[in-house]
Amino acid sequence: MVACFFGVVLGSPTLKLRGDYLAIVTLGFGEIVRIFMNNLNAPVNITNGAQGITLIDPVAIGSFKFSNTTQFLGISISGPQKYYYLLLVLALLVIVINLRLQNSRIGRAWQAIREDEIAAKAVGINTRNLKLLAFAMGASFGGVAGGVFSAMQGFVSPESFSLIESIMILAMVVLGGMGHIPGVILGAILLTILPEALRYGVGPIQVAVFGKMLVDPESLRMLIFGLALVLVMRFKPAGLWPSPERKRELQDAGGAMAELLLQANNVAKHFGGVKALRDVSLSIRQGEIYGLIGPNGAGKTTFFNCLTGLYIPDGGGFVFDGKALLADAPHQAAERGIARTFQNIRLFGNMTALENVMVGRHVRTKAGGFGAMLQSAATRAEEAAIRQRALDLLHYVRIEDRADDLAKNLSYGDQRRLEIARALATEPKLLCLDEPAAGMNHTETEELRDLIDGIRRDGTTILLIEHDVKLVMGLCDRVAVLDYGALVIEDVPAVVQKDQRVIEAYLGA
Ligand SMILES: Nc1ncnc2c1ncn2[C@@H]1O[C@H](COP(=O)(O)OP(=O)(O)OP(=O)(O)O)[C@@H](O)[C@H]1O
Ligand SMILES: [Mg+2]
Repeated sequence: MVACFFGVVLGSPTLKLRGDYLAIVTLGFGEIVRIFMNNLNAPVNITNGAQGITLIDPVAIGSFKFSNTTQFLGISISGPQKYYYLLLVLALLVIVINLRLQNSRIGRAWQAIREDEIAAKAVGINTRNLKLLAFAMGASFGGVAGGVFSAMQGFVSPESFSLIESIMILAMVVLGGMGHIPGVILGAILLTILPEALRYGVGPIQVAVFGKMLVDPESLRMLIFGLALVLVMRFKPAGLWPSPERKRELQDAGGAMAELLLQANNVAKHFGGVKALRDVSLSIRQGEIYGLIGPNGAGKTTFFNCLTGLYIPDGGGFVFDGKALLADAPHQAAERGIARTFQNIRLFGNMTALENVMVGRHVRTKAGGFGAMLQSAATRAEEAAIRQRALDLLHYVRIEDRADDLAKNLSYGDQRRLEIARALATEPKLLCLDEPAAGMNHTETEELRDLIDGIRRDGTTILLIEHDVKLVMGLCDRVAVLDYGALVIEDVPAVVQKDQRVIEAYLGA
């Protein structure tokens, strides 16, 4: 519990950091804590400084002590042997827990955050809480390990945990293959065996070949170790045994709704001197397809970003489904029922199509870390339901045969469809599509029109940004035109098409 608390304390300042920076900062924390602990012997002696804390009780279960030799069925088992089996059991336990976590709602959300944090927020993942959860759980494992370690040694000192230990652990993960548990185990085994092999192999070999010790095995160890890491980074950047691309499995969906769903009131957004949105007010009715058009740079995407919480408007606000929408909370917008796609597709590239859609279910499901570790009946039932719903959605957008392909390997049109399926997985009341037909050919655009029309018939209101005027005018119930950040007109397509200002600003003379 204490380790978990400090995990959260140390994790909170690093929430904005990603990837390598995060690793470096956490290594830095390790050093700070070590030096701090080393000096915590004055004015009040807590850690006994560099001498360390001694005479710690050994691990014991009831009266069964792990430290001394016991006779068991006539076999004598020594203390170290007992610890060996205890540690083996604990290591297996950690592996099982991690495997279970990885294939759970929480594990998928972590993976989604690593792939694309903004897209993860847009599907309703509270990235701050989930990152803190990762820190808390990581620290808890460390805390238990530390407890067992100190009891086994009967002694702890800050000097047992220097920078090199932290780097070794990071190196095991990178060398083996980040995000792939068997790979990490392989990394740990290799890096544990390597120093021993060098110590008992290289020293004697040198003596045999040169007659004396030329290079001390310890420095040679660091040299070979460094070289091995550089080679792995260069030739196998994903690690020795990275996550494999996965296999395939297979499988319909529906639901049905003319009141006001969304009201934008004087929404303004400035970027320096650029007024991207100038007091835009518009309203979207329940069950309609609402088109938002305008020339490049008119502020359409900026409107989406303000609506979904990625930008905080400089003025005005939104009322969604009868209640004000909080600014700057993308995952809450998703929770309230606003889903979106991105102009420049943001899928979780290294996750399968199916997994991308399963992440979309995050916000409507609830399995937590403990559920995943224990694999309770409820968790398993929920996981099965998530998978089934995701398969149904892939079928709905007609890419069910690509379920087990990595999102990055899908064709452009399929990626756009997958992004729509992921957005639908959050069960939105309002689906916002940012130029879904961009880059599509005529047939694909026709299919997209049917898809969007079908989604509306199934009860979801749609806000559509699109440059394809024919598509917009044919599909939308009402259309709004933005120009230089200002709303020009909001009306039915027939009226908008004939409006003189629209023709000048957008449709061209
Ligand atoms: N993050 C940002 N920082 C600075 N300026 C921005 C930012 N986002 C948008 N802008 C500016 O705001 C204006 C509106 O951009 P926006 O992306 O909303 O246009 P758009 O209507 O979506 O255009 P397009 O049809 O090209 O997608 C542009 O002048 C753009 O350069
Ligand atoms: Mg745009």
